[in-house]
Amino acid sequence: MTQHQQDSAVGTTSPGPELGPTGRPHREFPDPAALASHGPARIIALCNQKGGVGKTTTTINLGATLAEYGRRVLAIDFDPQGALSAGLGVQTHDVPTIYDLLLSRQFEPNDAIQRTSVEGLDVIPANIDLSAAEVHLVTEVAREQILAGVLRRVSADYDVILIDCQPSLGLLTVNALTASHGVIIPLECEFFALRGVALLIETIDKVRDRLNPAIELDGILATMYDSRTLHSREVLERVVDAFGDKVLETVITRTVKFPDATVAATPITEFAPEHQASKAYRQLARELVFRGAVA
Ligand SMILES: Nc1ncnc2c1ncn2[C@@H]1O[C@H](COP(=O)(O)OP(=O)(O)OP(=O)(O)O)[C@@H](O)[C@H]1O
Ligand SMILES: [Mg+2]
Repeated sequence: MTQHQQDSAVGTTSPGPELGPTGRPHREFPDPAALASHGPARIIALCNQKGGVGKTTTTINLGATLAEYGRRVLAIDFDPQGALSAGLGVQTHDVPTIYDLLLSRQFEPNDAIQRTSVEGLDVIPANIDLSAAEVHLVTEVAREQILAGVLRRVSADYDVILIDCQPSLGLLTVNALTASHGVIIPLECEFFALRGVALLIETIDKVRDRLNPAIELDGILATMYDSRTLHSREVLERVVDAFGDKVLETVITRTVKFPDATVAATPITEFAPEHQASKAYRQLARELVFRGAVA
């Protein structure tokens, strides 16, 4: 990294265009235009088999910021841990969940959809029942396409559907990839960040070959970035070397506000709307609209 990049990464001013942490000139993406009508949804999976990289946090806060910009958003909790449901403060017990929609034709998606505290952001919850789905789906006809079939039934009501995947590349994640138009890979700016990404890309390529020719890699999102550490900057530099323009310009910095917002069961954009992290997720929403990944 050049001195100039380091200066701009730590936010000090220096002559010339200010560079963002990914080494490209910093820019604010424009506010998205209002939509004249809604749907059909573009479906995006938030996917990385590595745990704790920010998949759920990104689903919640990207969902909330896209809703702020007038998009109708449905977030799918696709992890038996139910962290997305908890983070959005919705019921997960004694209510229909994504598990019921996958396994039974008796339920309609609308039976499982819950509103959140954010206007325009709805969620289909999950709970530990979903851990049994992998086993039950194995014997189903077209077992990789079950989620796609469920989401087709709600697509018209939303502009974007975000799927919060569990940290695995098993049958549930393959279902998510088969149902999706795009994938966002959150990557934690940590030493082992790139480990496993080749396998993930290979899995996406196989899904494209065999199940879902249209799937695109929408972007790699660097999370938990800490510009004060050389280590974080080096990891991000390696990620940019490996993936070039696929690395989103928006970078999410590490901040303790996220765990606080999780405890409050609300997006950070509601918990601390003016916090730098809320602004970063708004920038991410604008960047994805700018890139055409979201209407
Ligand atoms: N930018 C950030 N700064 C600090 N902490 C963060 C940040 N993003 C997420 N976290 C925290 O890190 C933990 C893991 O984040 P998160 O649950 O979003 O990851 P995940 O990829 O969904 O994990 P899993 O693979 O277990 O589902 C959470 O406690 C979350 O609050
Ligand atoms: Mg998660």
